[in-house]
Amino acid sequence: MKNERKVLRNKSILLGITGGVSAYKSIDLIRRLREEGALVTVIMTEAAKHFVTPLSLEVASQNKVFSDLYADTMAHISLPAGADIMVVAPATANTIGKFAHGIADNLLSLSFLSFKGKVVMAPAMNWRMYENPVFRKNLDTLLNLGVIQVGPEKGSLACGEEGIGRMAEVPDIIEATKGALTINDLADENILVTAGPTREYLDPVRFLSNRSSGKMGYALARAALRRGAQVTLISGPSSLPQPKGVKFIPVDAAGDMHSAVNRELVSSTILIMSAAVSDFMPAEKSGEKIDKTGKLFLKLTATPDILSAVAKKKNRPFIVGFAAETGRKLEKARKKLKHKNMDLIVFNDVTEAGSGFDVETNKVVLIDKKKESELPLLNKDDVADAILDRIVELRA
Ligand code: CTP
Repeated sequence: MKNERKVLRNKSILLGITGGVSAYKSIDLIRRLREEGALVTVIMTEAAKHFVTPLSLEVASQNKVFSDLYADTMAHISLPAGADIMVVAPATANTIGKFAHGIADNLLSLSFLSFKGKVVMAPAMNWRMYENPVFRKNLDTLLNLGVIQVGPEKGSLACGEEGIGRMAEVPDIIEATKGALTINDLADENILVTAGPTREYLDPVRFLSNRSSGKMGYALARAALRRGAQVTLISGPSSLPQPKGVKFIPVDAAGDMHSAVNRELVSSTILIMSAAVSDFMPAEKSGEKIDKTGKLFLKLTATPDILSAVAKKKNRPFIVGFAAETGRKLEKARKKLKHKNMDLIVFNDVTEAGSGFDVETNKVVLIDKKKESELPLLNKDDVADAILDRIVELRA
């Protein structure tokens, strides 16, 4: 795809794998990093070899796997020197303890000491160890030094117990790695993103809704987070995973979304209304399931126009709206920008190939008071970054 902006493309990632059960996930992590265009070099500890074989990692990374300090005497200097970022996943309590105290008794801990870039770490262990004050102290030492932590999660642990300690999922580790490699040009912004459809109920089981998947809004939330913003994501029903690190507020109907936006607005500098808010709702909602008796005539009434209401407020944030049209109705979008008093509108023609609902791509035109930019067909992550780039320009 043209103009693809992959944060990880040609980035050299030094992946440390230590001795935890979740080391098997490293194969998938390597595969996904390589799909994003990264070059992965693995350093594994001896303990990690109990959980995953060097050969599997060599095949997955298409690269030599390092672990013996004395087999490659200068590797602890040359590997970190050539890396853009270091990722340690899983990171055991033992390795975190060593890192925190400058103990350098294997290739990985030595490499950590000689590495000058950012380090992303995905701790994984039993919850008792994770909550242990000695471990917490070590972890805090590293966090205070700027090490970036991702996970762990709550859930069923390898030992059969439930609790916190599961290694973060691979997409979250990838996201944290991308974030670490991205310039924080939105660090001063507090961004409120709405996403997905809304549901307007006729009765307790039936509703009016639309085909929005939430993909564009979730991509915007993730991209903004990566670029250092504080992000609140107000989402209508969506099957997408909740992005880690955002304040997530699930809502159902347009009215709920409106209330949530009003509540969160106070602290927001930017509002991105990517939700496909239903324009109509049943005029009356039946408290009980409507019986199937003859014809049913629905009386609909307009939902509150969230964007317009916010745009009328005195201390309003910077407002980005969307215009999903059937056909290339750019003039309609230009008018909408004006009469809804938006700062930027993102136009897309949902009938165009690759631009419809529930697809990974989008082809948009960004329209503001000064400029119109037509973007090529891009994946939604790249569209999100292009929208944020324009916001940054307009707010400069
Ligand atoms: N929007 C909103 N509240 C609504 C409806 C839409 O805040 N009740 C927001 C959407 O999130 C989107 C923008 O307004 O950012 C879309 O504007 P709108 O005029 O509603 O678009 P359409 O539904 O396409 O309207 P029309 O049929 O008038 O073109």
